[in-house]
Amino acid sequence: MTGIEAFVRGLPKTDLHMHIEGSIEPELMLELAARNGVTLRWDTPEALRGAYRFENLQSFLDLYFEGCKVLVTERDFRDVTRAYLRRAHEDGVVRAELFIGPQSFTERGIPIEALMSGVLAAMEDARGAHGMSVGLMISVHRHRTEPDAFAVLNQVMPWKDDIIGIGMGGAEVGNPPSKFARFFRAARERGFRTAVHAGEEGPASYVREALDLLHVDRIDHGNACLADPDLVRELAIRRVPLTVCPLSNLRLKVVPSLEEHPLKAMMAHGLHVTVNSDDPPYFGGYVTENLLACREALGLSRDAIVRLVRNGLEAAFVTEEERQALLLRLDAYVRMPVDG
Ligand code: ADE
Ligand code: ZN
Repeated sequence: MTGIEAFVRGLPKTDLHMHIEGSIEPELMLELAARNGVTLRWDTPEALRGAYRFENLQSFLDLYFEGCKVLVTERDFRDVTRAYLRRAHEDGVVRAELFIGPQSFTERGIPIEALMSGVLAAMEDARGAHGMSVGLMISVHRHRTEPDAFAVLNQVMPWKDDIIGIGMGGAEVGNPPSKFARFFRAARERGFRTAVHAGEEGPASYVREALDLLHVDRIDHGNACLADPDLVRELAIRRVPLTVCPLSNLRLKVVPSLEEHPLKAMMAHGLHVTVNSDDPPYFGGYVTENLLACREALGLSRDAIVRLVRNGLEAAFVTEEERQALLLRLDAYVRMPVDG
């Protein structure tokens, strides 16, 4: 490992945009399929990994929803969440905010209790075993209806105190934030933080809608905002965090190459950008790999990488007391002499 790799891996980082169902490594996917008698189209991890070639967001979502079928029991949800958190901990992540989209599971008759109990148990385990700070975000599918989203909100209310926020993912184009204005008002009124995917494949106007109509706390991705200078100015002035996922953008052909990724331009515009993993096995990397790949492709300086990590800590849905403690930890790490 080079000096910079070790430095980046050791940085106390956040992962604020990841999907539990998108974090199943191929080996575990096959193990869960066998355990639950689910037939997959691939029978080796290599074959499965070979299928991770996408033309766009929809071609990825097709495979992602197929992969969801291996998660059936409470133990499955616990195992997959535990595996991600262990890996994230090894990657230097000190604060992880995890999305899960219950609709993929409840539509198959899986009780919400199995999902919530399994995920929450693994989160509690990671707090104890790794000293990690972990939060859960419930995500709804934008390609389904607003009444469907309300049904999810009602189903998870018994766990209100265990959930930090509500998000939205799925097929973006044709499903603008405005479709969910009443839903996100209700989520905010019930005390949840909010973050929606916007401006990944969709236009800048979707980012604008997420801000003005949904009043979200964070934007997931947000790349397309650069097409609208007024929007960029407003996002920068209001310091609205954007949870950018560079390797995801590369693999889903949101950008033609990492060299052409707008991350550096976003930083130059003063945007509050953070770097995140999204669906790590599908896109070829956890947060460290994302940062290192961007460093290589965009020539990010050590200071720029530290800035991105600091932005993550500043954007996390944690108490101010916890944020200050995490920022002090980052400052202490950055001050340590570098060897090599
Ligand atoms: N669900 C999981 N990953 C996603 C992404 N990158 N965009 C939209 N929905 C998602
Ligand atoms: Zn995502």
